[in-house]
Amino acid sequence: EPVPLEMHKVRIVQKLNLPPIERRLEAITEAGNNTFLLRNEDVFMDMLTDSGVNAMSDQQLAAMMIADDSYAGSATYTRLENKLKEIFGMPYFLPAHQGRACENILGQVLVAEGAVVPMNYHFTTTKAHIVLNGGIVEELVADAGLEVTSDMPFKGDMDIDKLRQCIDEYGADRIAFVRMEAGTNLIGGQPISVANLEEIRKVCDEHDLMLVLDASLLQDNLHFNKTREATCKDLSIREITRRIADLCDVLYFSARKLGSARGGGMCIRSKELYDKMRGLIPLYEGFLTYGGMSVREMEAMTVGLEETMDEDVISQGPLFIEYMVNELAKAGVPVITPPGGLGCHINAMQFVDHIPQSQYPAGALASALYLVSGARGMERGTISEQREPDGSETFANMELVRLAMPRRVFTLSQVKYVIDRVIWLYANRHLIGGLEFTEEPEILRFFYGRLAPV
Ligand code: F0G
Repeated sequence: EPVPLEMHKVRIVQKLNLPPIERRLEAITEAGNNTFLLRNEDVFMDMLTDSGVNAMSDQQLAAMMIADDSYAGSATYTRLENKLKEIFGMPYFLPAHQGRACENILGQVLVAEGAVVPMNYHFTTTKAHIVLNGGIVEELVADAGLEVTSDMPFKGDMDIDKLRQCIDEYGADRIAFVRMEAGTNLIGGQPISVANLEEIRKVCDEHDLMLVLDASLLQDNLHFNKTREATCKDLSIREITRRIADLCDVLYFSARKLGSARGGGMCIRSKELYDKMRGLIPLYEGFLTYGGMSVREMEAMTVGLEETMDEDVISQGPLFIEYMVNELAKAGVPVITPPGGLGCHINAMQFVDHIPQSQYPAGALASALYLVSGARGMERGTISEQREPDGSETFANMELVRLAMPRRVFTLSQVKYVIDRVIWLYANRHLIGGLEFTEEPEILRFFYGRLAPV
Protein backbone atom coordinates (compact mmCIF):
# COMPACT_ATOMS: atom_id res chain seq x y z
CA GLU A 1 0.00 0.00 0.00
CA PRO A 2 1.71 3.26 -1.11
CA VAL A 3 1.85 6.14 1.36
CA PRO A 4 1.59 9.70 0.07
CA LEU A 5 4.86 11.62 -0.01
CA GLU A 6 5.13 15.30 0.82
CA MET A 7 6.73 17.04 -2.17
CA HIS A 8 7.72 20.04 -0.04
CA LYS A 9 9.57 20.70 3.18
CA VAL A 10 8.35 22.59 6.21
CA ARG A 11 10.28 25.76 7.02
CA ILE A 12 7.89 27.70 9.22
CA VAL A 13 5.76 26.01 11.85
CA GLN A 14 2.95 26.97 14.19
CA LYS A 15 2.68 25.44 17.66
CA LEU A 16 -0.39 23.31 18.25
CA ASN A 17 -2.28 22.74 21.44
CA LEU A 18 -4.16 19.54 22.34
CA PRO A 19 -6.46 20.44 25.22
CA PRO A 20 -7.41 17.62 27.64
CA ILE A 21 -10.78 15.98 27.10
CA GLU A 22 -12.34 17.79 30.08
CA ARG A 23 -11.60 21.13 28.41
CA ARG A 24 -12.84 19.80 25.07
CA LEU A 25 -16.17 18.89 26.65
CA GLU A 26 -16.47 22.40 28.10
CA ALA A 27 -15.43 23.97 24.80
CA ILE A 28 -17.93 22.10 22.62
CA THR A 29 -20.69 22.81 25.14
CA GLU A 30 -19.80 26.52 25.12
CA ALA A 31 -19.92 26.31 21.30
CA GLY A 32 -23.50 24.97 21.34
CA ASN A 33 -22.20 21.73 19.77
CA ASN A 34 -21.52 23.72 16.60
CA THR A 35 -17.91 23.30 15.47
CA PHE A 36 -18.08 26.72 13.75
CA LEU A 37 -18.34 28.29 17.20
CA LEU A 38 -15.24 26.63 18.67
CA ARG A 39 -12.26 28.86 19.27
CA ASN A 40 -9.13 27.80 17.47
CA GLU A 41 -7.16 27.73 20.74
CA ASP A 42 -9.35 24.77 21.75
CA VAL A 43 -8.72 22.94 18.47
CA PHE A 44 -5.84 20.53 17.81
CA MET A 45 -6.33 19.84 14.11
CA ASP A 46 -8.49 22.34 12.32
CA MET A 47 -10.18 20.35 9.57
CA LEU A 48 -13.20 22.65 9.34
CA THR A 49 -12.32 23.86 5.88
CA ASP A 50 -9.61 24.13 3.26
CA SER A 51 -10.61 27.75 2.74
CA GLY A 52 -8.00 30.43 3.45
CA VAL A 53 -5.94 27.99 5.55
CA ASN A 54 -3.72 26.28 3.00
CA ALA A 55 0.04 26.52 3.48
CA MET A 56 1.76 29.14 1.38
CA SER A 57 4.97 28.60 -0.50
CA ASP A 58 8.22 30.51 -0.03
CA GLN A 59 7.61 31.99 -3.48
CA GLN A 60 4.19 33.29 -2.44
CA LEU A 61 5.59 34.88 0.72
CA ALA A 62 8.41 36.46 -1.25
CA ALA A 63 5.98 37.90 -3.80
CA MET A 64 3.92 39.42 -1.00
CA MET A 65 6.95 41.53 -0.02
CA ILE A 66 7.09 43.27 -3.39
CA ALA A 67 3.41 44.08 -3.70
CA ASP A 68 2.61 47.43 -5.28
CA ASP A 69 0.24 49.28 -2.99
CA SER A 70 -2.06 51.66 -4.76
CA TYR A 71 -5.78 52.27 -4.92
CA ALA A 72 -5.89 52.43 -8.70
CA GLY A 73 -3.64 50.95 -11.37
CA SER A 74 -1.48 48.82 -9.09
CA ALA A 75 1.17 46.76 -10.88
CA THR A 76 0.20 43.90 -8.58
CA TYR A 77 -3.29 43.90 -10.04
CA THR A 78 -1.93 43.90 -13.58
CA ARG A 79 0.25 40.88 -12.77
CA LEU A 80 -2.80 39.04 -11.44
CA GLU A 81 -5.01 39.96 -14.36
CA ASN A 82 -2.34 38.88 -16.86
CA LYS A 83 -1.81 35.55 -15.10
CA LEU A 84 -5.54 34.82 -15.12
CA LYS A 85 -5.84 35.69 -18.80
CA GLU A 86 -2.80 33.53 -19.57
CA ILE A 87 -4.10 30.50 -17.68
CA PHE A 88 -7.82 30.64 -18.47
CA GLY A 89 -7.68 32.43 -21.81
CA MET A 90 -10.67 34.68 -21.19
CA PRO A 91 -10.42 38.33 -22.22
CA TYR A 92 -12.03 39.98 -19.18
CA PHE A 93 -11.57 39.74 -15.42
CA LEU A 94 -13.36 41.28 -12.45
CA PRO A 95 -11.93 40.97 -8.93
CA ALA A 96 -13.98 40.26 -5.80
CA HIS A 97 -13.08 39.75 -2.17
CA GLN A 98 -14.08 36.07 -2.21
CA GLY A 99 -16.26 33.47 -3.95
CA ARG A 100 -19.63 34.42 -2.54
CA ALA A 101 -19.06 38.02 -3.62
CA CYS A 102 -18.85 36.76 -7.21
CA GLU A 103 -22.10 34.87 -6.59
CA ASN A 104 -23.74 38.05 -5.35
CA ILE A 105 -22.80 39.92 -8.51
CA LEU A 106 -23.65 37.06 -10.89
CA GLY A 107 -26.97 36.66 -9.06
CA GLN A 108 -27.87 40.32 -9.26
CA VAL A 109 -27.00 40.64 -12.93
CA LEU A 110 -28.17 37.30 -14.30
CA VAL A 111 -30.91 35.94 -12.03
CA ALA A 112 -34.33 37.56 -12.45
CA GLU A 113 -37.44 36.68 -10.45
CA GLY A 114 -38.53 33.15 -11.42
CA ALA A 115 -35.34 32.41 -13.38
CA VAL A 116 -33.95 28.89 -13.18
CA VAL A 117 -30.33 27.88 -12.65
CA PRO A 118 -29.67 24.23 -13.52
CA MET A 119 -26.50 22.97 -11.85
CA ASN A 120 -24.79 19.73 -10.99
CA TYR A 121 -25.19 20.47 -7.27
CA HIS A 122 -25.67 23.54 -5.12
CA PHE A 123 -23.19 25.12 -2.75
CA THR A 124 -24.63 26.86 0.33
CA THR A 125 -23.70 30.44 -0.58
CA THR A 126 -24.48 29.90 -4.29
CA LYS A 127 -27.99 28.74 -3.57
CA ALA A 128 -28.57 31.53 -1.05
CA HIS A 129 -27.64 34.20 -3.63
CA ILE A 130 -29.78 32.66 -6.39
CA VAL A 131 -32.79 32.32 -4.08
CA LEU A 132 -32.26 35.85 -2.73
CA ASN A 133 -32.70 37.18 -6.30
CA GLY A 134 -35.92 35.18 -6.75
CA GLY A 135 -34.30 32.34 -8.70
CA ILE A 136 -34.85 28.59 -8.59
CA VAL A 137 -32.04 26.04 -8.20
CA GLU A 138 -32.37 22.75 -10.10
CA GLU A 139 -29.86 20.08 -9.11
CA LEU A 140 -29.17 17.70 -11.96
CA VAL A 141 -26.19 15.67 -10.77
CA ALA A 142 -26.25 12.12 -12.17
CA ASP A 143 -27.82 9.66 -9.72
CA ALA A 144 -24.42 8.09 -9.01
CA GLY A 145 -23.33 11.40 -7.48
CA LEU A 146 -25.59 10.81 -4.51
CA GLU A 147 -24.56 7.21 -3.95
CA VAL A 148 -22.26 7.17 -0.95
CA THR A 149 -20.03 4.33 -2.04
CA SER A 150 -19.21 4.08 -5.67
CA ASP A 151 -16.35 3.54 -8.05
CA MET A 152 -17.59 6.18 -10.50
CA PRO A 153 -14.56 8.39 -11.14
CA PHE A 154 -16.56 11.61 -11.82
CA LYS A 155 -19.46 11.72 -9.39
CA GLY A 156 -19.88 15.46 -9.92
CA ASP A 157 -21.01 14.99 -13.53
CA MET A 158 -24.40 16.31 -14.60
CA ASP A 159 -27.04 14.01 -16.07
CA ILE A 160 -27.42 15.35 -19.62
CA ASP A 161 -30.95 13.91 -20.01
CA LYS A 162 -32.02 15.72 -16.85
CA LEU A 163 -30.56 18.94 -18.27
CA ARG A 164 -32.52 18.55 -21.51
CA GLN A 165 -35.69 17.78 -19.55
CA CYS A 166 -35.18 20.80 -17.33
CA ILE A 167 -34.77 23.10 -20.35
CA ASP A 168 -37.88 21.60 -22.02
CA GLU A 169 -39.92 21.94 -18.86
CA TYR A 170 -39.13 25.58 -18.07
CA GLY A 171 -38.27 26.77 -21.57
CA ALA A 172 -34.80 28.07 -22.43
CA ASP A 173 -35.95 31.67 -21.88
CA ARG A 174 -36.30 31.08 -18.15
CA ILE A 175 -32.83 29.61 -17.72
CA ALA A 176 -30.47 32.25 -16.33
CA PHE A 177 -27.37 30.13 -16.97
CA VAL A 178 -26.14 26.59 -16.45
CA ARG A 179 -23.76 26.25 -13.52
CA MET A 180 -21.19 23.53 -13.05
CA GLU A 181 -19.13 23.22 -9.89
CA ALA A 182 -15.67 21.69 -10.15
CA GLY A 183 -14.75 19.41 -7.23
CA THR A 184 -18.41 19.37 -6.21
CA ASN A 185 -18.21 20.44 -2.59
CA LEU A 186 -21.34 19.20 -0.87
CA ILE A 187 -21.32 15.70 -2.32
CA GLY A 188 -17.79 15.08 -1.09
CA GLY A 189 -15.47 17.14 -3.27
CA GLN A 190 -16.31 14.95 -6.27
CA PRO A 191 -14.85 15.93 -9.64
CA ILE A 192 -16.47 16.62 -13.00
CA SER A 193 -15.07 15.24 -16.26
CA VAL A 194 -14.01 17.23 -19.28
CA ALA A 195 -16.22 14.90 -21.35
CA ASN A 196 -19.31 15.88 -19.34
CA LEU A 197 -18.51 19.57 -19.68
CA GLU A 198 -18.20 19.11 -23.44
CA GLU A 199 -21.68 17.56 -23.60
CA ILE A 200 -23.13 20.37 -21.48
CA ARG A 201 -21.52 22.90 -23.79
CA LYS A 202 -23.29 21.28 -26.74
CA VAL A 203 -26.67 21.52 -25.03
CA CYS A 204 -25.98 25.14 -24.05
CA ASP A 205 -25.12 25.99 -27.66
CA GLU A 206 -28.34 24.39 -28.92
CA HIS A 207 -30.34 26.69 -26.63
CA ASP A 208 -28.06 29.72 -26.57
CA LEU A 209 -27.37 29.37 -22.84
CA MET A 210 -24.36 30.50 -20.85
CA LEU A 211 -22.20 27.98 -19.02
CA VAL A 212 -20.77 29.24 -15.75
CA LEU A 213 -18.09 27.26 -13.94
CA ASP A 214 -17.54 27.56 -10.21
CA ALA A 215 -13.81 26.89 -10.26
CA SER A 216 -13.22 27.25 -6.51
CA LEU A 217 -12.13 23.62 -6.24
CA LEU A 218 -10.67 23.35 -9.73
CA GLN A 219 -7.18 22.38 -8.57
CA ASP A 220 -8.39 19.10 -7.01
CA ASN A 221 -10.57 18.51 -10.06
CA LEU A 222 -7.58 18.94 -12.38
CA HIS A 223 -5.66 16.25 -10.49
CA PHE A 224 -8.58 13.87 -11.01
CA ASN A 225 -8.92 14.74 -14.72
CA LYS A 226 -5.22 13.99 -15.10
CA THR A 227 -5.31 10.70 -13.15
CA ARG A 228 -8.80 9.36 -13.93
CA GLU A 229 -9.79 10.62 -17.40
CA ALA A 230 -8.12 8.78 -20.26
CA THR A 231 -8.29 11.74 -22.66
CA CYS A 232 -6.37 13.93 -20.18
CA LYS A 233 -3.63 11.46 -19.27
CA ASP A 234 -1.15 12.89 -21.76
CA LEU A 235 -2.09 16.54 -21.28
CA SER A 236 -0.31 18.92 -18.91
CA ILE A 237 -2.33 20.48 -16.08
CA ARG A 238 -2.13 23.74 -18.01
CA GLU A 239 -3.61 22.11 -21.10
CA ILE A 240 -6.44 20.48 -19.13
CA THR A 241 -7.19 23.82 -17.47
CA ARG A 242 -7.45 25.53 -20.83
CA ARG A 243 -9.59 22.75 -22.26
CA ILE A 244 -12.05 23.26 -19.36
CA ALA A 245 -11.99 27.06 -19.50
CA ASP A 246 -12.52 27.08 -23.28
CA LEU A 247 -15.90 25.40 -22.73
CA CYS A 248 -17.17 28.09 -20.34
CA ASP A 249 -18.56 31.61 -20.68
CA VAL A 250 -17.80 32.64 -17.11
CA LEU A 251 -15.40 31.08 -14.65
CA TYR A 252 -15.60 32.37 -11.09
CA PHE A 253 -13.73 31.28 -8.02
CA SER A 254 -12.92 31.65 -4.41
CA ALA A 255 -9.14 32.12 -4.32
CA ARG A 256 -9.23 30.98 -0.70
CA LYS A 257 -8.98 27.44 -2.04
CA LEU A 258 -7.09 28.17 -5.25
CA GLY A 259 -3.66 28.83 -3.81
CA SER A 260 -4.18 32.01 -1.79
CA ALA A 261 -5.33 33.12 1.61
CA ARG A 262 -8.10 35.38 0.36
CA GLY A 263 -9.72 36.74 -2.74
CA GLY A 264 -11.73 35.72 -5.73
CA GLY A 265 -12.90 36.86 -9.10
CA MET A 266 -14.64 36.21 -12.37
CA CYS A 267 -13.11 35.53 -15.77
CA ILE A 268 -15.58 36.54 -18.46
CA ARG A 269 -15.76 35.91 -22.18
CA SER A 270 -18.32 38.51 -23.26
CA LYS A 271 -17.68 42.25 -23.25
CA GLU A 272 -21.39 42.87 -22.84
CA LEU A 273 -21.63 40.80 -19.65
CA TYR A 274 -18.40 42.30 -18.35
CA ASP A 275 -19.85 45.79 -18.80
CA LYS A 276 -23.03 44.83 -16.97
CA MET A 277 -21.20 43.38 -13.97
CA ARG A 278 -18.39 45.91 -13.77
CA GLY A 279 -20.52 48.63 -12.19
CA LEU A 280 -21.28 46.45 -9.17
CA ILE A 281 -17.61 45.87 -8.27
CA PRO A 282 -16.90 49.38 -6.90
CA LEU A 283 -20.29 49.25 -5.19
CA TYR A 284 -19.78 46.03 -3.25
CA GLU A 285 -16.09 45.12 -3.45
CA GLY A 286 -13.79 48.07 -4.06
CA PHE A 287 -12.16 49.77 -7.01
CA LEU A 288 -11.62 47.64 -10.12
CA THR A 289 -7.92 47.14 -9.48
CA TYR A 290 -8.34 45.47 -6.08
CA GLY A 291 -11.96 44.40 -5.62
CA GLY A 292 -11.71 44.02 -1.86
CA MET A 293 -8.36 42.22 -1.87
CA SER A 294 -5.12 43.48 -0.43
CA VAL A 295 -2.19 43.77 -2.81
CA ARG A 296 -0.38 41.12 -0.76
CA GLU A 297 -3.21 38.67 -1.31
CA MET A 298 -3.21 39.41 -5.02
CA GLU A 299 0.53 38.72 -5.27
CA ALA A 300 0.06 35.42 -3.41
CA MET A 301 -2.79 34.53 -5.75
CA THR A 302 -0.76 35.21 -8.86
CA VAL A 303 2.06 32.95 -7.70
CA GLY A 304 -0.43 30.40 -6.32
CA LEU A 305 -2.21 30.20 -9.67
CA GLU A 306 1.04 29.43 -11.44
CA GLU A 307 1.95 26.81 -8.79
CA THR A 308 -1.45 25.19 -9.32
CA MET A 309 -0.27 24.23 -12.81
CA ASP A 310 2.20 21.78 -11.18
CA GLU A 311 0.86 18.25 -10.60
CA ASP A 312 3.28 17.75 -7.65
CA VAL A 313 1.66 20.74 -5.94
CA ILE A 314 -1.99 19.98 -6.59
CA SER A 315 -1.78 16.24 -5.92
CA GLN A 316 -0.82 16.65 -2.27
CA GLY A 317 -4.36 17.27 -0.97
CA PRO A 318 -6.06 14.50 -2.98
CA LEU A 319 -3.32 11.96 -2.12
CA PHE A 320 -3.58 12.59 1.64
CA ILE A 321 -7.37 12.40 1.38
CA GLU A 322 -7.14 9.15 -0.56
CA TYR A 323 -4.91 7.68 2.15
CA MET A 324 -7.33 8.69 4.90
CA VAL A 325 -10.42 7.46 3.04
CA ASN A 326 -8.80 4.10 2.23
CA GLU A 327 -7.60 3.55 5.82
CA LEU A 328 -11.03 4.35 7.24
CA ALA A 329 -12.82 2.21 4.66
CA LYS A 330 -10.51 -0.72 5.49
CA ALA A 331 -11.57 -0.38 9.13
CA GLY A 332 -15.24 -0.48 8.10
CA VAL A 333 -15.96 3.21 8.74
CA PRO A 334 -18.58 4.50 6.28
CA VAL A 335 -16.91 7.14 4.10
CA ILE A 336 -17.66 8.63 0.71
CA THR A 337 -15.91 6.78 -2.09
CA PRO A 338 -14.16 7.18 -4.36
CA PRO A 339 -12.01 9.67 -2.42
CA GLY A 340 -12.57 13.21 -3.69
CA GLY A 341 -10.81 16.50 -3.16
CA LEU A 342 -11.28 18.99 -0.32
CA GLY A 343 -11.40 16.42 2.48
CA CYS A 344 -12.48 13.05 3.81
CA HIS A 345 -16.25 12.78 4.13
CA ILE A 346 -17.77 10.47 6.73
CA ASN A 347 -21.28 9.20 6.10
CA ALA A 348 -23.07 10.05 9.33
CA MET A 349 -26.36 8.55 8.16
CA GLN A 350 -24.69 5.14 8.49
CA PHE A 351 -22.08 5.93 11.21
CA VAL A 352 -24.79 6.91 13.69
CA ASP A 353 -27.76 5.14 12.12
CA HIS A 354 -29.52 5.17 15.50
CA ILE A 355 -29.92 8.99 15.25
CA PRO A 356 -32.91 10.12 13.12
CA GLN A 357 -32.35 12.89 10.55
CA SER A 358 -34.56 15.18 12.62
CA GLN A 359 -31.85 15.03 15.31
CA TYR A 360 -29.02 15.97 12.96
CA PRO A 361 -26.76 12.90 12.78
CA ALA A 362 -23.94 14.77 11.01
CA GLY A 363 -23.99 17.61 13.55
CA ALA A 364 -23.96 15.11 16.40
CA LEU A 365 -21.05 13.21 14.87
CA ALA A 366 -19.00 16.36 14.22
CA SER A 367 -19.45 17.38 17.85
CA ALA A 368 -18.53 13.91 19.16
CA LEU A 369 -15.49 13.71 16.92
CA TYR A 370 -14.15 16.97 18.31
CA LEU A 371 -14.68 15.65 21.82
CA VAL A 372 -12.68 12.46 21.26
CA SER A 373 -9.90 13.94 19.12
CA GLY A 374 -9.63 17.71 19.29
CA ALA A 375 -10.05 17.64 15.49
CA ARG A 376 -12.66 20.00 14.16
CA GLY A 377 -14.73 18.92 11.17
CA MET A 378 -17.82 20.47 9.61
CA GLU A 379 -21.41 19.33 9.46
CA ARG A 380 -22.58 19.02 5.86
CA GLY A 381 -26.09 17.67 6.24
CA THR A 382 -29.51 18.85 7.36
CA ILE A 383 -28.16 21.64 9.60
CA SER A 384 -26.52 23.10 6.46
CA GLU A 385 -29.93 23.20 4.74
CA GLN A 386 -32.58 25.84 5.32
CA ARG A 387 -36.11 25.26 6.59
CA GLU A 388 -39.02 25.60 4.14
CA PRO A 389 -41.10 28.80 4.43
CA ASP A 390 -43.68 26.79 6.45
CA GLY A 391 -41.02 25.90 9.02
CA SER A 392 -40.61 22.25 8.05
CA GLU A 393 -37.15 20.74 7.72
CA THR A 394 -35.53 20.00 4.37
CA PHE A 395 -33.71 16.77 5.10
CA ALA A 396 -30.39 16.74 3.26
CA ASN A 397 -29.72 14.07 0.64
CA MET A 398 -26.56 13.21 2.50
CA GLU A 399 -25.54 13.56 6.15
CA LEU A 400 -21.81 14.13 6.03
CA VAL A 401 -19.05 15.15 8.39
CA ARG A 402 -16.33 16.72 6.34
CA LEU A 403 -12.76 16.53 7.59
CA ALA A 404 -11.12 19.01 5.27
CA MET A 405 -7.47 18.60 4.37
CA PRO A 406 -5.90 22.06 4.19
CA ARG A 407 -3.20 21.67 1.57
CA ARG A 408 0.35 21.03 2.77
CA VAL A 409 -0.60 21.86 6.38
CA PHE A 410 -0.70 18.49 8.17
CA THR A 411 1.88 15.72 8.31
CA LEU A 412 1.03 12.09 7.72
CA SER A 413 1.37 11.28 11.44
CA GLN A 414 -1.25 13.91 12.26
CA VAL A 415 -3.55 12.39 9.67
CA LYS A 416 -2.91 8.96 11.22
CA TYR A 417 -3.90 10.35 14.62
CA VAL A 418 -7.28 11.46 13.27
CA ILE A 419 -7.79 8.11 11.52
CA ASP A 420 -7.15 6.36 14.85
CA ARG A 421 -9.66 8.56 16.72
CA VAL A 422 -12.37 8.12 14.05
CA ILE A 423 -11.95 4.33 14.20
CA TRP A 424 -12.23 4.45 18.01
CA LEU A 425 -15.37 6.54 17.79
CA TYR A 426 -16.88 4.17 15.26
CA ALA A 427 -16.36 1.26 17.65
CA ASN A 428 -18.07 3.32 20.37
CA ARG A 429 -20.70 5.02 18.21
CA HIS A 430 -23.58 4.00 20.49
CA LEU A 431 -22.29 6.71 22.91
CA ILE A 432 -23.37 9.44 20.47
CA GLY A 433 -26.86 10.96 20.84
CA GLY A 434 -28.91 13.35 18.70
CA LEU A 435 -29.11 17.16 18.89
CA GLU A 436 -31.81 19.83 18.82
CA PHE A 437 -31.57 23.58 18.19
CA THR A 438 -31.58 25.91 21.17
CA GLU A 439 -30.87 28.96 18.98
CA GLU A 440 -31.71 28.84 15.29
CA PRO A 441 -30.94 31.77 12.96
CA GLU A 442 -33.09 32.05 9.84
CA ILE A 443 -30.33 32.41 7.24
CA LEU A 444 -27.33 30.05 6.98
CA ARG A 445 -28.11 28.62 10.41
CA PHE A 446 -25.14 26.24 10.31
CA PHE A 447 -22.75 29.15 10.81
CA TYR A 448 -23.97 30.30 14.21
CA GLY A 449 -26.87 28.16 15.36
CA ARG A 450 -26.59 26.48 18.79
CA LEU A 451 -27.69 22.97 19.67
CA ALA A 452 -27.95 20.75 22.73
CA PRO A 453 -28.27 16.99 23.27
CA VAL A 454 -31.89 15.86 22.86
N1 F0G B 1 -18.16 27.86 -4.28
C1 F0G B 1 -17.64 26.76 -3.74
C2 F0G B 1 -17.65 25.49 -4.52
C3 F0G B 1 -17.07 26.79 -2.45
O1 F0G B 1 -16.57 25.69 -1.93
C4 F0G B 1 -17.08 28.02 -1.75
C5 F0G B 1 -16.56 28.09 -0.38
C6 F0G B 1 -17.65 29.16 -2.35
C7 F0G B 1 -18.17 29.04 -3.62
C8 F0G B 1 -17.71 30.47 -1.65
O2 F0G B 1 -16.44 31.02 -1.60
O3 F0G B 1 -15.93 31.20 0.86
O4 F0G B 1 -14.63 32.51 -0.84
O5 F0G B 1 -16.98 33.10 -0.33
N2 F0G B 1 -16.36 27.09 0.35
C9 F0G B 1 -15.85 27.13 1.71
C10 F0G B 1 -15.88 25.75 2.33
C11 F0G B 1 -16.50 28.13 2.57
O6 F0G B 1 -15.51 25.65 3.50
O7 F0G B 1 -16.21 24.75 1.68
P1 F0G B 1 -15.97 32.01 -0.39
